[in-house]
Amino acid sequence: PVSKPLSGKKAVVTSGPTYEPIDPVRYIANRSSGKQGHAIAAALAAAGADVTLVSGPVSLPDPMGVKVVRIETARQMLDAVLAALPADIAVCAAAVADWRVAEEAGQKLKKDGSGVIADLKLSENPDILATLSQKGPKRPQLVIGFAAETENVIEHARAKRARKGCDWILANDVAPGTGTFGGDHNEIFLISGVDATSDETWPRQGKNGVARALAERIIQHFA
Ligand code: PMT
Repeated sequence: PVSKPLSGKKAVVTSGPTYEPIDPVRYIANRSSGKQGHAIAAALAAAGADVTLVSGPVSLPDPMGVKVVRIETARQMLDAVLAALPADIAVCAAAVADWRVAEEAGQKLKKDGSGVIADLKLSENPDILATLSQKGPKRPQLVIGFAAETENVIEHARAKRARKGCDWILANDVAPGTGTFGGDHNEIFLISGVDATSDETWPRQGKNGVARALAERIIQHFA
């Protein structure tokens, strides 16, 4: 018999980029492929969890046994995540755009021939991980975020964990040349406590391996 240690647990996972529209044909986005978030959703489902995957636009197949909700913008991602609650586990692997264009143009923006480019005014997007981490009856028991950093990875990730209020944070280096955004491999530094005694450095491995290792940690947590 296959063991399903997370059966009876509900999980919500975010994955991929968000697209923030500028006008009907243009958007602001980033290089996230969704590979890491989708692999995590698949690993949790394989362990028996009831998984809702809220994903930005990606070109990956839906993971087996997972309910997939497709969105484009950060605000849509927040709404879909809140609609998936209550959940026992939340994992935020999406690369959510921190800003959106304040006023999306109704028509395609035109060059006006002046050689001057119109300013894009930006507004801050909601922070999904921070919202999920807020104390309250709907807070998932275990809220896990990622920290995508290009320098001082561990220090910045530790500060991010405190600021956002999540339980664990998986820090990964996304500096140019690492291939973390879009690639097949990842190297994780797990911060699961206030001091360094519980920190773990995982060897560089495939994103599926990272996902299985995280599912293993989650299983231990609930055991
Ligand atoms: O998709 P892949 O190509 O496989 O690449 C994987 C990845 C590099 C995108 C992934 O491993 C990763 O690091 N995801 C988080 C990317 C990110 O935007 O990190 P951040 O440090 O800016 O954000 C910190 C945390 O807050 C993340 O959990 C993020 O999902 C969350 N967040 C951020 C902003 C926001 N408005 N809402 C959020 O929930």
